[in-house]
Amino acid sequence: MTRRTMLHHIGVGAATVVVAGVGAGSYRVFDNGVLDAGHGTAYDPWTNWRDDATSLGTVAAAILAANPHNTQPWTFHVTDDRVELFTDPARRTGALDALDREHHVGLGCALQNLVLAAAARGLQPSVTLLPDASDPTHVATVSFAEAPMVVSDLHDAIDRRHSNRGPYTDEIVAADVLATFDSLVAGLDGVGIRWFATPAERAGLGAMIIEATRAIIDDEEQSTESFAWIRSSRDDTDTQMDGLTLDAQGLSPLVLAAAKILPASTRSAGDSFWLDQTRTVHTATAAAYGIVTVADPDDRAAQLDGGRLLQRIHLAATVAGLGLQYMNQITERIDRDAQLGNPSTFAAAMDALIDRPGRHALSTFRIGHPVRAGRLSPRRPVSKVTR
Ligand SMILES: Cc1cc2nc3c(=O)[nH]c(=O)nc-3n(C[C@H](O)[C@H](O)[C@H](O)COP(=O)(O)O)c2cc1C
Repeated sequence: MTRRTMLHHIGVGAATVVVAGVGAGSYRVFDNGVLDAGHGTAYDPWTNWRDDATSLGTVAAAILAANPHNTQPWTFHVTDDRVELFTDPARRTGALDALDREHHVGLGCALQNLVLAAAARGLQPSVTLLPDASDPTHVATVSFAEAPMVVSDLHDAIDRRHSNRGPYTDEIVAADVLATFDSLVAGLDGVGIRWFATPAERAGLGAMIIEATRAIIDDEEQSTESFAWIRSSRDDTDTQMDGLTLDAQGLSPLVLAAAKILPASTRSAGDSFWLDQTRTVHTATAAAYGIVTVADPDDRAAQLDGGRLLQRIHLAATVAGLGLQYMNQITERIDRDAQLGNPSTFAAAMDALIDRPGRHALSTFRIGHPVRAGRLSPRRPVSKVTR
């Protein structure tokens, strides 16, 4: 049986073939973790995050947060009564996140997990954003005071939350479920959620996401930066403990196994696969989209608070058994056009879709009832991100 007929028989579409590349080798079954996905040192942070009851343990929860391209763009300075959160500027994604918006949103996600883990340890957290005007890399200080332990559902979902890039079923997400997410803005400044749940709203936003995906692929710098964070071998994952893995792409078990056995993808093949998945799976099966809105998407504090809100929503979705995937192609193009001084086609169109005076998109996600569970992504351990 040729490779092409084998893939045809197991139902792997053309786009999946190109992401996987050409040829096969049985050693890759072992080498790429076909049989033991989600195991090894790079995945230990998902199981040992509750072990340390001290302030250092809050960092073990923070590093499990969503973050752009799994860059894990953080460093923590920990003492008994506080944790200071810094960006790691070396872990920016260049042209893909031209104004470092996602970099800071991801730090906000980590901050949210940290706060939940502090409360669960009897450390009442008090957050100061951007505490040092002379040091923009110092994004937050969380001070602790002794208090009774508060263990929330959101806290307990920290290790069950994963980005789910697979198909969602055609079951709707009820309006009252979406409405419960609205209350998650409590205590955060100036952030809101705009839902896109009707068929017309979903179609309009989905079409724009596909268009923005094409524009990213056509921009060589953005495409190259995106490719730099793809980890196509088990060795890469074990040593780098970051980036996007095949396991995290939401593929069926059979297609995933085939993709792992075949050699790694080229950049253009990966781009085609991504566009195809965006069109046929991500936008085609989104039950609803949410956009976190702010008054000024370039404001660092709004980005951090927006990240906190997104992490809360993702944890609450996990508690409700819903899948969630960030889909930020449109805002990635908005910032790229701003950086290059291009007239922005996407900024005005996105504002028109949001249709709320003075509110702009910070970050976009889709939500729905997932066909299959999301899988673990690697993480660098606490010891590598603390100083
Ligand atoms: C600010 C931000 C932007 C993101 N953008 C995307 C995106 O456009 N598409 C996507 O599939 N995932 C996106 N993600 C999800 C990350 O890739 C994901 O959180 C990371 O790989 C870690 O995986 P995990 O969420 O399963 O732990 C984004 C996450 C954050 C915080």
